[in-house]
Amino acid sequence: MPSLTLNGQVVEFEPGQTVLEVARAHGVDIPTLCYLKDATPTGACRMCLVEIEGARTLVASCAMPASEDMVVQTDTERVHKARKLNIELLLASGDHNCLVCEANGRCKLQELAYRYGVQSLRFHGRTTDYPVEDSNPLIVRDFSKCILCGRCVQACNEVQVNRAIGYGYRGARSKIVTAGDRPYHESDCVFCGQCLEVCPTGALTEKKARGKGRAWEFERVRTTCTYCGVGCQMELHVKDNQVVRVTAVDDGGPNFGRLCVKGRFGYDFIHSPDRLTTPLIKQEDGSFREASWDEALDLVASRLKRIRRQSGPNSIGGLTSARATNEANYLFMKVMRAGVGTNNVDHCARL
Ligand code: FES
Repeated sequence: MPSLTLNGQVVEFEPGQTVLEVARAHGVDIPTLCYLKDATPTGACRMCLVEIEGARTLVASCAMPASEDMVVQTDTERVHKARKLNIELLLASGDHNCLVCEANGRCKLQELAYRYGVQSLRFHGRTTDYPVEDSNPLIVRDFSKCILCGRCVQACNEVQVNRAIGYGYRGARSKIVTAGDRPYHESDCVFCGQCLEVCPTGALTEKKARGKGRAWEFERVRTTCTYCGVGCQMELHVKDNQVVRVTAVDDGGPNFGRLCVKGRFGYDFIHSPDRLTTPLIKQEDGSFREASWDEALDLVASRLKRIRRQSGPNSIGGLTSARATNEANYLFMKVMRAGVGTNNVDHCARL
């Protein structure tokens, strides 16, 4: 296996790994903003700068392939100063007012400014005059907080492969745009929210969660999405027993950090006052009355038995639900086949 020297230690690496990947594999932390695992490196933020012996300038480790006998330093004073300067320049290029920012407490730029000891704003750049876009019900886009790291673009194009956003305009007018720079809801965006998931600042925030709590106030509960049979892993951000946001779990299959529009945004039903909380039995006049589980199940069992006696088991069919667990669906199949005696079992979502 090839090896290189990392902060004075000889370490081995897999051919094809970048310097950043080698460092992380050996427990050396290099800060990043634009790096997105499994996407093509863009080298946009320059936070991951390191010193490489023989190189004329500092090098972005996220985009630099590791090579045999390389000598890398990740934590020198020169590196530290360069990273701090880049943070200061990023802060100067926007309106990063943490006090009122939705991302306060989970913003990577804020975290790095603290870590690198940025005490005051040395530079005063021109913040963008692009208006905040909140014309859709799910995602708010605040361009004054966008650092143009491009993670949203990579997530849209390479992770979800929706290809709904890219870079637009030039220089200080640069902006992340949809085709024709239309608002999200008039574009090809399918609102999977992957851009939201990877945004390191408050440029993209979830509309429904605004004002509902800070990052440190939430209990994070890992669970499985209930919408379809894929079983995506997600985390519910819960405050005062209310689900406020949903994010994907990075290291867990089958979704590995991805969610669709339903899994990410479709959680209103959890607290809906319209949810049924007790069985209902339909009466002769068409209205429903509340019943206990015992009464409802006895009624269903007696009616099924009567139908089977009168018309045979194949006159009965059962539709199960994608919203139930695999285990519940399996049990339902057993009830229909072994209990009722029919193979007429199907799945509503398939249709
Ligand atoms: Fe390497 Fe942004 S993480 S340049």
